[in-house]
Amino acid sequence: MKIIAILNEKGGTGKSTLSTNIATALHRAGKKVVLVDADPQGTSRDWREASPPDADLPPVVALDRPQMLVGSLPTLSANDFVIIDGPAKAGDMAASIVRVAHVALIVIQPSGADIWASAATVKLIRSKIDVGGAIDAAFLVNRTSGSTKLSKQMLTGEWNEYGIDQLDSTIGNRVAFAQALTDGISVYDLADGQAKAEIDFVIQELEKAKWV
Ligand SMILES: Nc1ncnc2c1ncn2[C@@H]1O[C@H](COP(=O)(O)OP(=O)(O)OP(=O)(O)O)[C@@H](O)[C@H]1O
Ligand SMILES: [Mg+2]
Repeated sequence: MKIIAILNEKGGTGKSTLSTNIATALHRAGKKVVLVDADPQGTSRDWREASPPDADLPPVVALDRPQMLVGSLPTLSANDFVIIDGPAKAGDMAASIVRVAHVALIVIQPSGADIWASAATVKLIRSKIDVGGAIDAAFLVNRTSGSTKLSKQMLTGEWNEYGIDQLDSTIGNRVAFAQALTDGISVYDLADGQAKAEIDFVIQELEKAKWV
């Protein structure tokens, strides 16, 4: 069982959007996947409830209290992957998620506010690494718009002084992502080929790094 946490205490960076699509990508690749909604706001739960009855999507379980999460993980051990959609709040929950995660993806949008606001998540990850804990972590830049100066700056990685790498794959600002979340489906169920390719590239990059 590999635990992949999608994090950032900054609200609205795209954690749920990417959790639902990454979980679906692995599920459709034939893996046994469960998506853990660790946010009391319940976006992943709402997403799954909005799904059409015959949708080919991974199950979602709500574990939004630290003890609940840690206590329930053994019951999920038959899965190949547990994807955790993290809360928009640094605190005990985020600390517990980092403690149990094998991989952490910190989702940021191309904006100083998102980068600075991820400091608490970075600190949690660094603290785990500093005491010899095993966790692979990377930033994942979401909602890029290819032509903007800001997006280009983000791609150079110059902004990154956090000692945590940035994935080469990035996710564009695309209506398909918002549509999929709203309709309880994934970008694999929509026509936007670029959105699907972007999620595929993330999975391929994680596979190459042997993180999944
Ligand atoms: N790549 C994208 N392209 C277009 N819209 C996006 C993209 N990523 C996220 N969004 C939209 O941005 C909003 C916030 O996304 P999401 O709910 O995934 O963020 P979050 O980090 O989970 O938020 P919270 O911190 O509140 O849990 C949603 O309306 C979503 O549809
Ligand atoms: Mg969310």
